[in-house]
This record gives sequence, C-alpha cells and structure tokens, in this order.
Amino acid sequence: MQKPHGGTLVQRISKDRDVSGLEKVEVSSDITKDVENIAHGVFSPLEGFLCQDEFESVMSHKRLPTDVPWTIPIVFDVNGKDYSEGDEILLEGENGMQAVFEIEDIYAYDKKEAAQHIFKTTDAEHPGVKKLYAMGDFLMGGKVTLVKEGRSPFEKYLLYPKETRVLFKEKGWRDIVAFQTRNPPHIGHEYVQKAALTFVDGIFINPIMGRKKKGDFKDEVILNSYKALIDHYYLRERAVLAVLQTEMRYAGPREAIHHAIMRKNFGCTHFIVGRDHAGVGNYYGPYEAHEIFDEFPDLGISPLFFRSFFYCKKCGSVVNDKTCPHGEEYHVNFSGTNIRKLLKEGKKPPASMMREEVAEVILSSGNPFVD
Ligand code: ADX
Repeated sequence: MQKPHGGTLVQRISKDRDVSGLEKVEVSSDITKDVENIAHGVFSPLEGFLCQDEFESVMSHKRLPTDVPWTIPIVFDVNGKDYSEGDEILLEGENGMQAVFEIEDIYAYDKKEAAQHIFKTTDAEHPGVKKLYAMGDFLMGGKVTLVKEGRSPFEKYLLYPKETRVLFKEKGWRDIVAFQTRNPPHIGHEYVQKAALTFVDGIFINPIMGRKKKGDFKDEVILNSYKALIDHYYLRERAVLAVLQTEMRYAGPREAIHHAIMRKNFGCTHFIVGRDHAGVGNYYGPYEAHEIFDEFPDLGISPLFFRSFFYCKKCGSVVNDKTCPHGEEYHVNFSGTNIRKLLKEGKKPPASMMREEVAEVILSSGNPFVD
C-alpha cells in the first residue's frame, strides 16, 4: 500500500475533547476545508497551519524544513495581532465544524513576494493572487484538532484517505491512478483517464468541490456530470468517484505538485498531469506543470504526463501530437471556452466533444456556472 506523504497518515481528531471556555472564532469555508483536510490526513504530514519557518521554507524551497516536498502554503490569516502565541481558540465553520487551534506562531509576511513564489506573478487579476492580496496581514501557525465534524452537501461522495485506503485494498487495487479535475468531463478528459487506466488497476476520479472563480462550473454540476459519465461509460469495478473539498488555487505547476501529494495521501500511486494543469489564463506554459516534477524525484507518487489530446477528423479519433501525423486543418481542440459557449446558449456540444449524457446533466441544471 502506498505510504502517506511524510510517512504517517495524520489524524487530528478528538471528539471528546472539552472545549468549554475556549474563545469561539468563526472561520471562512476555505479555512474550514483546510482544517478538515489537515485533521483527516489529506494534507499529511501537516498537523496544522504553517509556522513562519515552514512558510518561508515552502516559499523558497518548495519543501518543509524537514525536506519533505510541499508547494502550497496552508495558512491561517488574521488582520491584527488579536491573539498571542500559546493561545488556544475554537474555530467554528458555517457547516458546524469545530476545531481547536493551538496558536504557536504569529508572523507578518510579504504578499507580493508570496504571490511571486506561489503564482509566478504579482498580477492582481490572477484569481489566486487576488485572494492572497485580500488576506489579513498576519499569519498564525500551529496545530489543529477537529472536535466536531462539519456537514457537507456531498456527504455521499466524501471520502477521506483512511477510507479510500480501505476501499482500494478491498478492491485489490495495487496501482491506482488519480485524476484531478475542476470541470465536467469532455471527451479529452475521458480519453486521458482511460489511457492511464489501461496501465493500472483502477482510477480514482477526484473532482474538487470548493471555491472557484466566476464562470467555472458549479460543484454539483461537476459531480453529477461525472456520475453520468461513469454510469454509462466506465466499468464499476475500475473507477471510484469521490470529491475533494478544497479550493482551487490556480497555481499551475506548484498546485500540480500539491494535487499529487493529496492523492498520494489517499493511497494513489500515479497521478495524471495533462495540458495546463491547474492553470488559468496565460500565466503558465502548457507543460510547465510537467517540468516541475523534475525537482521532486522523491515525491513518492508517479506523475503520468499527457500531451494535449484533440480530435482529428482524418484519424476519426482522439489523438495528440505524438500520435497524429495530420495537419491542423483536421484538428478540433477540446476547448473549454467553446464548450462553455455552446452550453450557455443551451446547445449540446457535438458528440465528438462531450458525451450526450454529460451534456444533458449540465443543460438540465439551470445555470451551471459560478456567478
Ligand atoms: S484542472 O485545473 O483541474 O487541471 P481540468 O479539470 O480541465 O483542470 O483538467 C483536469 C486534468 O485533465 C488536468 O491534468 C489537465 O491537464 C487534463 N486535461 C484537460 N484537458 C486536456 C486535454 N485536452 N488533453 C490532455 N489533458 C487534458
């Protein structure tokens, strides 16, 4: 069985802990999800929010001070120094989640420098940078312990690493490929998944549910469209669908590593990285998210790199630039923008672009996009 990142699956859950007397602090849904993911080991080996030495090490070296690869800072921001190091507070999410936060460290940080490190740009138009600039001026680091589970609208499809590890074992899967997504599936996505599945025992399809940018698909539309795809086009014994509740950060290459680490914690051995993984606009090169894996020979999960797939009218099939000799005039890209445009007009994309059952789910959902 795949080893968790850093060696041990973190479980920071203590349901009988006495929390009376602790100051209650309401937190955003992004922070709530971070707490839940820390507690359930999705972010192993993190046991809490990053302290200053960890934050700086992640920024400059893409590693924790222990040298374990880590590329996306998981941080708790505050506006002023309202707390002191050594304080314990009770974090409360809108979904009912409660967790104790032992504040070990409070520190200032440079937002522009952080933006440059994480997103490779300081442009406030970048959705990740925009969020970073709106954060408080201080960060608080320290361990968290979940004392009360929050509710989730996706309960039935919410699995944590402890559960997926049991499930994969029960299924007898040894080599497991994970697929990250923030979109309903087009034919290109399906092709990438099935190409990878050919070489392993099973696929873990793990769409992200959480804050996304305007114009992205709504969570429930992504989940329901995957249910339809799997029902009609996948072998039940070869695919597991579960959601990952976390925000999209749009950090391209750094986020690709983060995505791979989380799926390693779920027990996966391989991770799909296609074209412009976790990218946005033109901030990253189409294969920058492939190149960054060279820096992490010790990651402990194998990336499976795919060149962009497209449809070739001459081949009559889905191909990429390694498999098709025909000119561009025969090629039709799986353009997210074109697919979104058709769906916005209430039209089904052609069958060469999207499965009919998937298009139907999207079109029947009212407005499928985040406002
Ligand atoms: S992402 O932000 O989660 O990366 P998306 O849901 O579109 O966006 O992509 C999920 C995965 O499929 C990523 O690894 C991405 O690189 C890959 N992918 C998307 N479209 C294609 C395509 N046409 N060819 C190859 N890989 C693709």
